[in-house]
Amino acid sequence: MEYIKSKEIFLLMRDTLKLIHPRLMEHGSRVAYMVYKMLEDKGGYEEYELADIVMVATLHDIGAYKTEAGSLSDILRYESRDSVAHTIYGYLFFKYLSPVEDLAKVIMYHHMDYDQLEKVDYKYKELAAYINIAEKMDIYFKAMGSQFDMHMFHKQAGTKLSEEGLEQFYQTAVKHDIFAKIQSEEYKEELDYIVDFMIFSNENKKKFLEMLMYCTGFRSEYSVVDTITTVCICEEIANKMLLKEDEKELLYYGALIHDIGMLAIPREIIEAPRKLEPEEMKLLRTHVVAAEKVLRKRMQEDVLEIAIAHHERADGSGYPRKLKDSQMNYMQKILQVADTVTGLTNKRSYRDPLHKEQVIEILNEEVTKNRLNRQIVNTFIRFYDTIMQRVQTESAEIMKMYQTLNQQYDQVSKKFKVWDK
Ligand SMILES: [Fe+2]
Ligand SMILES: [Fe+2]
Ligand SMILES: [Fe+2]
Repeated sequence: MEYIKSKEIFLLMRDTLKLIHPRLMEHGSRVAYMVYKMLEDKGGYEEYELADIVMVATLHDIGAYKTEAGSLSDILRYESRDSVAHTIYGYLFFKYLSPVEDLAKVIMYHHMDYDQLEKVDYKYKELAAYINIAEKMDIYFKAMGSQFDMHMFHKQAGTKLSEEGLEQFYQTAVKHDIFAKIQSEEYKEELDYIVDFMIFSNENKKKFLEMLMYCTGFRSEYSVVDTITTVCICEEIANKMLLKEDEKELLYYGALIHDIGMLAIPREIIEAPRKLEPEEMKLLRTHVVAAEKVLRKRMQEDVLEIAIAHHERADGSGYPRKLKDSQMNYMQKILQVADTVTGLTNKRSYRDPLHKEQVIEILNEEVTKNRLNRQIVNTFIRFYDTIMQRVQTESAEIMKMYQTLNQQYDQVSKKFKVWDK
């Protein structure tokens, strides 16, 4: 069964990252458009290849969502002076978490001076060089307005920028009236045309959706651990309750993406080391609506319905729709239990994890109040130790992966400081 189309996965990633920083994502789209038109004019690329290139070019600054978390608006700074951090984090993120590992180095090299890049042995280095040109053009065009002249970088031809790339850019810019289309936003339509050609295998779709979930780690790595915990608990309960294979799959995807709307919530609120004020709580609760907005019409409806019901409760006291027991299915109710358990057993900024006895007591209370489903809670409690054992193992693996990623980040950063001036 097709839960989502390839193109929609890409659009979903784009819109989700837009929740964190709209301007940075718009920059990604414009750079992707310029690169796409340059390569189309140059020739030799099939449309589906151009579509893949658009995908990676759109996400070329993905590392900045993490490394520049506190100062994302200062695009000019990290795109011109301190570019190392976001290129390396983006590279590692793509390398470890995307299904298109061979394109990851495009991200690492997208700020490298051309006279250095030329010496590198890498299949897609020209693509990195083109992104470098396109992103300079875009950033300075946006910053300088009518003062902008695309030839202003010509003195860097052959040193910082590729001479061939620049010539190609001048030609393409004139032929397609690139800057006018960017100004009027007409470029978006042309970009949509090529996005239609994206084709991912089912395996890759799954990996991209997992990568999307890992984006919640840009805010806090614990969000990822939380989601993995919830997914694990859902899987275990679904197995014990003998759900059908297709139901298990729906539940898996629903659980995987249920909290992506958290990316729209300010970090100070997510990580507040105290109880939230009513106004803050209200804002926190908008994460469900935020997720629904990006998922609706993209993700298959059954998956969406599971994801956005994770804070609903059988007595109608949940949010956002105050659904009642009879309006919800089993998969939605399993996710509600799993999400509750995750909230109680994982560390929170304002308290330590609760013990087994406390967790069971709270769950039973929720059942008595007719908020959580009795049969599901009982199943969970019966297999508490085996389920939580597996959760432990999987969470430890995720934290290990982050450790490796962060270690490599430090190592590669040191190495790269040498050529970054
Ligand atoms: Fe960049
Ligand atoms: Fe950029
Ligand atoms: Fe949530």
